[in-house]
Amino acid sequence: TVQYSNDFLILPGMVDVHVHFRDWELAYKETLAGGAAAALAGGVVAVGDMPNTRPHIRTAELYQRRLREGASLPIIYRLHMGVPADLAELDLAKPRTVKIYPEDIAQFGWAHVKSLLQKCAELNCVAVFHCEDPQLFRDGERPPEAERLCVEKVRALAAETGARVHLTHVTLAETVETARGWATVDVTPHHLYLDTENCRDRGLCLVNPRLRAPDARKRLLAALAAGLVDMYATDHAPHTLAEKASENPPPGICSLDVALGLLLALWKRGVLALGDVVRLYSHRPARLLGVDVDPLAGTFTIVKLEEYTVKGEEFAGTCKFTPLEGLKAFGRVVATAVRGVVYFRDGEAKPLWPTAVSQPRGTPPSTYP
Ligand code: NCD
Ligand code: ZN
Ligand code: ZN
Repeated sequence: TVQYSNDFLILPGMVDVHVHFRDWELAYKETLAGGAAAALAGGVVAVGDMPNTRPHIRTAELYQRRLREGASLPIIYRLHMGVPADLAELDLAKPRTVKIYPEDIAQFGWAHVKSLLQKCAELNCVAVFHCEDPQLFRDGERPPEAERLCVEKVRALAAETGARVHLTHVTLAETVETARGWATVDVTPHHLYLDTENCRDRGLCLVNPRLRAPDARKRLLAALAAGLVDMYATDHAPHTLAEKASENPPPGICSLDVALGLLLALWKRGVLALGDVVRLYSHRPARLLGVDVDPLAGTFTIVKLEEYTVKGEEFAGTCKFTPLEGLKAFGRVVATAVRGVVYFRDGEAKPLWPTAVSQPRGTPPSTYP
């Protein structure tokens, strides 16, 4: 017998504006295909991949090459262009978004960043900032003041140039408030869930920007609950376990597989409304990347409304560990559909509606009118 179930929820496809799919010379950390698998497992139908690959994507030629590779993935692939030494590369590449790192600011200087913003205003691209002023970095430390100082400088540049700005992985409630009216912001699952007290592993918990103190984390969560945050994005940044356990661990956390579950857990806890989940991880990010996530166009995510525990070993991507391990997530992704192609989680490929209701009833008349 077939039974009805109320335990499923259909959502528009999730969109993650900040992932690192690596590949190329860093394919040992993650591949484009591995990243796409993690995305589908996480209910994510579209991503904005970051340009800090090796080599870094700073030319129109590399940008287009990477886009061609991404186009063969089962998800909708978008790419943030890296800062070019010669801004004419932007005229050729015409990217929708350009990603600016603290390392770019250190290497090229703020004057170059200003010219880039002018160029972006002209070409109508969005300047996406990892906003930490490298001037305040001291012997490997990156204090919250680096975020504050960068945000002030970028605010002035945005006003001068008229460029559209997005601030990614912001960590301070103060940044969320300051950004109102001139920039959009996203926050990560790890900055919402993890802090310097509940995450102590030196390698696993190392990330840029750094995890903050518990009170700062709680203020960020309160800003999210108050509806002040525009988007939710993972900053899924895979490394190998050996690298993370080494003397000199690289920063970065994997979370693409479970990000939706951790966001829905905030809905379950009453911190967010379901509409907030859809706005934060689908509608607003889709607008930044310029992608269509209309379920009527066959792009959607189905979750089963049950609680589960985050387990890295269950991740579908290349990266199978996370400091988010053990957290309670809600809403297991059972299917992700991209433009009409449905990807089912293993073992869950059963029809969502009962076939019994379509069985005919009664006997046909012996004569027809
Ligand atoms: C990112 C990476 O590994 O590429 N690391 C990180 O800690 N977030 C770089 C970045 O997003 O800043
Ligand atoms: Zn970053
Ligand atoms: Zn990143």
